[in-house]
Amino acid sequence: MFRDEKGFRPTQQMFTEVPPKYDILNRILTLNLDEGWRKKAASKVLEENPAQVLDLCCGTADLTMHIARSAGEQTGIYGLDFSHTMLERAREKVAVFGPDRIKLIQGDAGNMPFDDGTFDAVGISFGFRNLTFENPDAALHISEVLRVLKPGGRFVILETSQPKNRIVRWGYHFYQKYITAPIGGLISGNRAAYSYLARSAVHYYSVPEISELLLKAGFSKIQSRSFLLGATAIVTAIK
Ligand SMILES: C[S@@+](CC[C@H](N)C(=O)[O-])C[C@H]1O[C@@H](n2cnc3c(N)ncnc32)[C@H](O)[C@@H]1O
Repeated sequence: MFRDEKGFRPTQQMFTEVPPKYDILNRILTLNLDEGWRKKAASKVLEENPAQVLDLCCGTADLTMHIARSAGEQTGIYGLDFSHTMLERAREKVAVFGPDRIKLIQGDAGNMPFDDGTFDAVGISFGFRNLTFENPDAALHISEVLRVLKPGGRFVILETSQPKNRIVRWGYHFYQKYITAPIGGLISGNRAAYSYLARSAVHYYSVPEISELLLKAGFSKIQSRSFLLGATAIVTAIK
C-alpha cells in the first residue's frame, strides 16, 4: 500500500487535521442537503434487513448515525476510518446509542481488519472519491470491499458526481472552485484540504464511470439515483 515520505496513506494527514469544523462545513457547503442524502443512503444500506453492516470511511459517523436510527436491534453496526481525530468525534456522537451498540474501528480501507464475507452491506458516504480519485490504491480499496462482503451483499456509495447538463456542470464546478474551496479553507483554516476536496469533486467520475469501475472490479446489478441535477448520486452494486 502506498505511503508518503511521512508514512501517511493518501489523504490521511488531511483528514486528521480537518475534524474540528468538518461537520458544520458539510452542512454549510451542501446547503444542509447532505444529511438528507445520507438518510437515503442509509435506507439503501438497510433495504434487505442486513445482519452486519459497515460504514466504510465513517468519518464523524454521520451515515452510521442514520443507519443506527433505522436498523433493527439485531443488526451489527461497524464504522471504519483511518483518522483518529474523525473517530474521536464519531465516538462522542454514537454514544447516544449506548456503549456497545456501534463498533468504531481505526483501520485502513486497503487492509480491513475483517474476515472475508463479514458484511451483508457496506455503505460509504463521501469517502469513495478519496479511495479512488488519483489514489494509487484505488483497485485495492474496491477489492477489499468485495472481500469483506458476503456473496449477494450490497455496496452503497453516496458520492459527488458530474451533472450531465453542460450548463449545470459549469455551475457546479464554479461552486466548487469559488465557494467550496475558499469558504471551506477560511472556516476550517485548512486551505489545502478544501482545495483538494473541491478539485477532486470537479474532476471526479460521472455515474457511468463509477458504474464501469465497479463492474470491472467484479460487482454486478448496478443501480443509481442522482440528486441536485446530478451533482451527487447514490450508486448501489451487488457482489
Ligand atoms: C470526506 S470524509 C467522509 C466522512 C463521512 N463518511 C461523511 O459522510 O461525512 C472521508 C473519510 O474517509 C476517510 N478515509 C479516506 N481514506 C481512507 C482509508 N484508506 N482508510 C480508512 N479511511 C479513509 C477519511 O479519514 C475521512 O474520514
